[in-house]
Amino acid sequence: MILVTGATGTIGSELLQELVRQGEPVRAAVHIRPLDVDGVETCSIDYDRPGTLPPALEGVDTLFLLSQEVVHEKPMVDAAKEAGVRRVVYISSFKADTDTFIVGQLHREVEQHIQGSGMAWTFLRPNYLMQNFVTLMGDDIRNEDAFYDSIGDARVSRVDARDVSQVAARVLTRPGHENRAYDLSGPEALSHHQAEEALSDALGRPIRYVELDDDSFRRRLISQGIPEDFAGFLEDVNRRNRNGETHDDTLTDHVQNILGREPTSFSQFCRDYAPSLGGN
Ligand SMILES: NC(=O)c1ccc[n+]([C@@H]2O[C@H](COP(=O)([O-])OP(=O)(O)OC[C@H]3O[C@@H](n4cnc5c(N)ncnc54)[C@H](OP(=O)(O)O)[C@@H]3O)[C@@H](O)[C@H]2O)c1
Repeated sequence: MILVTGATGTIGSELLQELVRQGEPVRAAVHIRPLDVDGVETCSIDYDRPGTLPPALEGVDTLFLLSQEVVHEKPMVDAAKEAGVRRVVYISSFKADTDTFIVGQLHREVEQHIQGSGMAWTFLRPNYLMQNFVTLMGDDIRNEDAFYDSIGDARVSRVDARDVSQVAARVLTRPGHENRAYDLSGPEALSHHQAEEALSDALGRPIRYVELDDDSFRRRLISQGIPEDFAGFLEDVNRRNRNGETHDDTLTDHVQNILGREPTSFSQFCRDYAPSLGGN
């Protein structure tokens, strides 16, 4: 039995559908949002209520682990170990083992905790998800035909979350991926000015990238309800990207090798998601 956490989120919902399609024995962990996949065993978990974890893990041999807040992850690893789980497939972040960005460091600590647990592991380390243009920037694109960021002209090899989910489905269900880590990128590293063009083409109207300075970017995030410390992390990583201090423009071939096809391009992503961004 595979337990999929974050099953209603960007990566987990696509993964769950794929595992159900393949007929894998799977249980979906639901938090607040209802699940929109039929015919799946569900359980209710809340990382802030540790008592909800053991019942969810009963009879589980493989844990697919992700959370919105990295702080939740070590207790879930401990609960999995206690419940007799054999393997953890963990969503970490791009170059978590070498990058000095704080979120990467936090993910790396969780990776090390999993490695120290004695359970088998696979780490999937996606670069920025293309879907951030829908989840984080979607309202601005729909309402103002614009998106706001402070990353300057830095190029980032964004990956489509659907590819991450497909890779997760493969490593969860096929042999040969135990105790391996995969940094996952898309097929190209693009700047926001190039993203602006791809979005405009797909949506059939001009979309502008509005470049903000660090302070305006952080204040904008806070005004949108992002917690102050996380807004500070994002400001920091954008500054590092602008200064060429990260690996975010790096291309990797793991999506191609694991799925046997090219990763999804940003242009294709824009065409697929055009309806949810106010396009045709
Ligand atoms: N976005 C990126 O560019 C990017 C890049 C690399 C790595 N990552 C990593 O990917 C992970 C996020 O993946 P995602 O974008 O698929 O997540 P997401 O869409 O934000 O979904 C988060 C999931 O976690 C559940 N959840 C939230 N709080 C919970 C709690 N207290 N207890 C139990 N479940 C809870 C949510 O359920 P409810 O909705 O019901 O609360 C939802 O199913 C993070 O670890 C992030 O660091 C993201």
